[in-house]
Amino acid sequence: MMVHPRRAGALSPPRPLWLTVLAAVGFLGALAVALALGGRSDARANDGQADQASNLIATGKQVFRFDTFGDEHFWGDTLQINKALAGAQHGGVGPGVSPKTALAVGLKVDVDALPASVITSLKNGTANLDDPATTLALLKLNSVVGVKGVFDRSGTLTSVGITCAVCHSSVDNSLAPGIGHRLDGWANRDLNVGAIVNLAPAGRLKPVADMLHVDEATVRTVLNSWGPGKFDAELFLDGKAFRPDGKSAATLIPPAFGLAGVNLHTWTGWGSVTQWNAFVANLEMHGQGTYIDSRLDNAEQFPIAAENNLGHTRHAKDLITSKLPALAAYEEVLAAPTPPKGSFDPMAAARGKVLFAGKAGCATCHVQPLFTEPGFNLHPASDIGIDSFQADRTPTHEYRTAPLKGLWTHTKGGFYHDGRFPTLLDVVNHYDTFQHLGLTAREKQNLVEYLKSL
Ligand code: HEC
Ligand code: HEC
Repeated sequence: MMVHPRRAGALSPPRPLWLTVLAAVGFLGALAVALALGGRSDARANDGQADQASNLIATGKQVFRFDTFGDEHFWGDTLQINKALAGAQHGGVGPGVSPKTALAVGLKVDVDALPASVITSLKNGTANLDDPATTLALLKLNSVVGVKGVFDRSGTLTSVGITCAVCHSSVDNSLAPGIGHRLDGWANRDLNVGAIVNLAPAGRLKPVADMLHVDEATVRTVLNSWGPGKFDAELFLDGKAFRPDGKSAATLIPPAFGLAGVNLHTWTGWGSVTQWNAFVANLEMHGQGTYIDSRLDNAEQFPIAAENNLGHTRHAKDLITSKLPALAAYEEVLAAPTPPKGSFDPMAAARGKVLFAGKAGCATCHVQPLFTEPGFNLHPASDIGIDSFQADRTPTHEYRTAPLKGLWTHTKGGFYHDGRFPTLLDVVNHYDTFQHLGLTAREKQNLVEYLKSL
């Protein structure tokens, strides 16, 4: 750098330009060195965090897929579903449950848990799918998604438990319908939870009936009213089995993917993922843990919960609480799957995207790319033009703006919390009427294609 000293001295401010430049270069150099050094130790720290994160996620995946939280107490000891599954021939009661029946009520089989010999016999049709013994063999292989069998030394199914995956996983049907690779987080809209609980041998639903202050036959009628893809998470709280119009009060099983960044969870925004996981593991799966929620003390809204002190659930052994961080971490990373090519019209979807954010006003609530409100994501029923029955069964009295990613994976059973709209076009028509959007038939179709593309 050559700067004429006299000229610099004569023309420049007290501190010569070149000195300033030099100082700056020196400072930047020092900064660069400092950053490089700091960066190195940051990288080390980040490596540690990345390891921790991936361990947490791996643990959460195991919990999500395989952990019963000790709920065998309920599904085995109380309901004796194990006996119904096994049948009289294998130490249980009744005819037993064949793989055909199990698949028909929506249970799924994980092909990756099967040895080659079983895969071959399934492929060439030599596996006996009418024999409950085959169901027991599949359970022994830990291949029935979300169902865990407990066997004694002699091979008798002594108990059974369920995991999160029974309702929130499916398979890709790669081998046969209902048999394939696991799809974690997918809503199992084939699963008939009511029919499965109804497998309980005669008399075994008495404790449930007593809790609800009805007889066992009534409980069985209610369970039959649910149908595939539905479950009533509030029944044990308020004892309300039917809506005022006489239809089942059960709600659809939602996906457990695509939830990162979403504030409140469930159709009615009960709370965070962690709140809901603790709720479900303790009060629905009947695992052994701790669940504290004073909102359930409201005897007017939750007579059954208040009577049984469910908002202050504590088991001697807590098999749930320590697993909540990992479980939440896993759910956080379960992304919504992208729709297969050819499943929607991309040109129409592009036009639909413009309508979604514009004329149709959808994005006022379904803010892209979360498709729910970043912030507080609940609405009174009047905001979306429906009744408040289900909202009023929960502490919020509101509905949560449903995150729409991966809609294509759960078209079975319909849309909205109770599946009241059989198709996406029905949903769009509802908004069009309720909000006087004035959409043309073509615009509606474009919106539907966009929804299919999410
Ligand atoms: C028997 C079926 C069943 C089982 C088992 C089950 N869930 Fe659910 N899950 C549901 C239903 C039904 C809802 C909707 C409840 C509502 O809105 O009232 C739901 C809601 C959720 C939601 C909210 C999704 C959203 O869109 O915000 C998450 C997260 C979730 N479950 C995770 C889990 C986890 C984790 C487990 C295991 C600890 C589990 N579930 C076990 C049926 C089930
Ligand atoms: C005022 C806020 C709001 C607006 C505006 C809105 N939605 Fe919704 N949307 C909701 C809420 C809340 C739900 C959940 C309803 C329920 O749980 O029954 C929902 C549910 C849905 C569902 C069903 C999701 C599922 O999993 O079943 C679809 C699809 C949907 N909205 C699409 C749209 C489209 C398309 C538009 C624009 C035409 C739109 N929404 C406008 C709040 C809104």
